Amino acid sequence: MFNRRKFLGSSLLASSGLFLRTSPAKILPQAGSPLVISTWDFGKAANQAAWEILGKNGRALDAVEAGVMVPEADPNNHSVGYGGLPDRDGHVTLDACIMDEKSNCGSVMCLEFIVHPISVARMVMEKTPHVVLTGEGALEFALANGFKKENLLTPESEKIWREWLKNSKYEPVINIENKKYSFAENQMAPGGPFNHDTIGMLAMDSRGDLCGACTTSGMAFKMHGRVGDSPIIGAGLFVDNEIGSATSTGVGEEVIRIVGSHLVVEFMRQGFEPREACRRAVERIVKRDPKKAMDLQVGFLAMRKDGRYGAFCIQKGFTYAVHSNTEDKIYQSESWFS
Ligand code: GLY
Repeated sequence: MFNRRKFLGSSLLASSGLFLRTSPAKILPQAGSPLVISTWDFGKAANQAAWEILGKNGRALDAVEAGVMVPEADPNNHSVGYGGLPDRDGHVTLDACIMDEKSNCGSVMCLEFIVHPISVARMVMEKTPHVVLTGEGALEFALANGFKKENLLTPESEKIWREWLKNSKYEPVINIENKKYSFAENQMAPGGPFNHDTIGMLAMDSRGDLCGACTTSGMAFKMHGRVGDSPIIGAGLFVDNEIGSATSTGVGEEVIRIVGSHLVVEFMRQGFEPREACRRAVERIVKRDPKKAMDLQVGFLAMRKDGRYGAFCIQKGFTYAVHSNTEDKIYQSESWFS
């Protein structure tokens, strides 16, 4: 439940100035009024699926699972699930995690042949004593529980990979998620096409409970076995039902180093607004290696227990989608570099 004493503490921080660096005031849903937010433009369709559940007083956990299943099944989304770009050896390997209001969590890493890794992650959470299953073990578990083995490498993704093999140059392209490349344009994209990314989704249901989900095919053309931030609880996703939740997108290695989503939630615990909490996490990454940060994209998205939300990223261009009783919109995140 929402902790009144802690939140009064936060109000004191507000009067002492810690809340001052905030995004412009908006009409916000109140605690207990359903809300879902997710990364990138493709979050809008995912939010719609989540809203089908949240709007009928459904559970946030069911909403985030149903929401992220939309991009997972979309062959035109080359950074999540089916149709995701493969690793450098041609394997589509998926990472996903889910976390509920009681800090239960489940994760799969480097899972092949399953269209909905988020549902396998949920099953790890609900049907095993473990939090994480990886690779072969995760696949065996999925198949034993009725998931179907499918080829996730679509003809278009395979074509892009074969084109990439000609130079085999790995160079992440900033904000590639939002670039609507045709196949021909895609071939000319600097450093190769569609290099990463992720859907991270955070929801609050009508009981005021918070849950989150995060799923990705990870960096395109990564080394076989590479795992990013997305399936790592605390890095790609973190939920604390007393305080708030956070998720990340972008170059996972940088997020893992600072345990980014957990850090954002801890900043909110200290009384910072969601946008400021995200900005402080970005600052950690930028200050660690300012030169490297100039060519990196990482974005954080956060929701606080009172329904306030915010985002911050390194490079301009990160967008996030919001759906509540009062809005269904895509916002541009503020960025470190303008
Ligand atoms: N953020 C997704 C990844 O780095 O794999």
